[in-house]
Amino acid sequence: MDAGNHHSESSGTAVRPSIVVTFQSALILVLSVSLSPGQVEAADLDAGQEIYAAQCAVCHGASGRPDPDSPVVKGLGVMPADFSDPLFNSREPAADWQMVIKHGGHALGLAEQMPAQGEVLSDADIANVAAYIKSLVDTVAYPPGEMNLFLPTRTKKAFPEDEVVYQGRFTDQDGDNAQKYVLEFEKRVGKAGQAIVELVYESEGDVSELAEAEIGYKQAISFSQQHILSAAAVWTIPVEAEGDGELQTYLAYGRVLSDAWILQSSLRLKFPFEGASDGEAELAGIVHWVHTPWPRRIFPALEVTATNPFRSRNGDLEWTVLPQVRLGLTRGGHVAMNLGVEVPLSDQNWDTRYYVTLLWDFADGSFFQGW
Ligand code: HEC
Repeated sequence: MDAGNHHSESSGTAVRPSIVVTFQSALILVLSVSLSPGQVEAADLDAGQEIYAAQCAVCHGASGRPDPDSPVVKGLGVMPADFSDPLFNSREPAADWQMVIKHGGHALGLAEQMPAQGEVLSDADIANVAAYIKSLVDTVAYPPGEMNLFLPTRTKKAFPEDEVVYQGRFTDQDGDNAQKYVLEFEKRVGKAGQAIVELVYESEGDVSELAEAEIGYKQAISFSQQHILSAAAVWTIPVEAEGDGELQTYLAYGRVLSDAWILQSSLRLKFPFEGASDGEAELAGIVHWVHTPWPRRIFPALEVTATNPFRSRNGDLEWTVLPQVRLGLTRGGHVAMNLGVEVPLSDQNWDTRYYVTLLWDFADGSFFQGW
């Protein structure tokens, strides 16, 4: 596909980078990228069931639900996972389960009572038993955990989850918005929804104040093992006297490109309640290199954003590029950090921005578990 220069209204400015793409064609480009994901071999569920009955059911229960009254479970001192719960079953990727089964709970930050099976079971056995426990309950209405992709700095995430995110944004300039802090609380609602509450602090010199609060809702509208698409609406409530309310809507998309590469992209529209012409459209996209299944590693990524203020008559886009790394902090990666640098590629009134993001996926355990 020609993603480029055939739209005449966007050529003719020499200052902007040569990769000028119109908003629409950039979106189509991002949505249509679909390298074929690695071939997955069909698991043998009967073989998985046999292994499960022989080696797992004693703790996890014959149907996948552990029996709290059984002497074995009582003796463990910790409750084994309940595979019959569709929300829990759907939200953990099968590959993570294979890691837990092979290397034991401790290796991935879970309880050491979950024994490592790598000595007893082959990789094929492990894949079969993991597929079998995935089949214990119907999860078609729930977005699969495979689509819970790494949180990007700017691109909106599509997967509905339980997460607390704290992000600081810094510039080396003084003045307005020199520092900005966002505390975000995300809570899974129902099968495929998520509630969002956000607090935004801005500081200038020594003064730091709560600038705005945001509440919103996100819903996954299409998903498979390879892709996810969500739609969200967020309402911004100004706390500062001179602030202005705003409605934001966005589409967020995630896709597995291959065994080692994932792509995420979002299109966000901002509509201020006063001065609607101050609104803007923002397209962001990011590619992560997922080079290992071990979560406590460093994962590099490259993010690009293009913003189109509604007041811009000639369709000018403001481009930024944002190299970043995700650092898994806990053994299971449920607490992680993201460090990024945002560099404007086109004329903007700020220089470089630095981002530090700390995230805690609280569905996967307490903050202090598994370090
Ligand atoms: C001795 C008891 C015991 C046996 C036997 C056992 N497990 Fe577990 N398993 C546990 C416990 C306890 C946990 C919970 C660990 C936690 O949440 O910290 C667990 C957790 C898990 C998880 C992680 C779920 C998650 O994401 O939180 C998987 C997957 C799993 N077991 C699969 C298996 C399979 C498959 C077998 C058989 C091959 C098996 N277990 C055998 C006790 C056991």
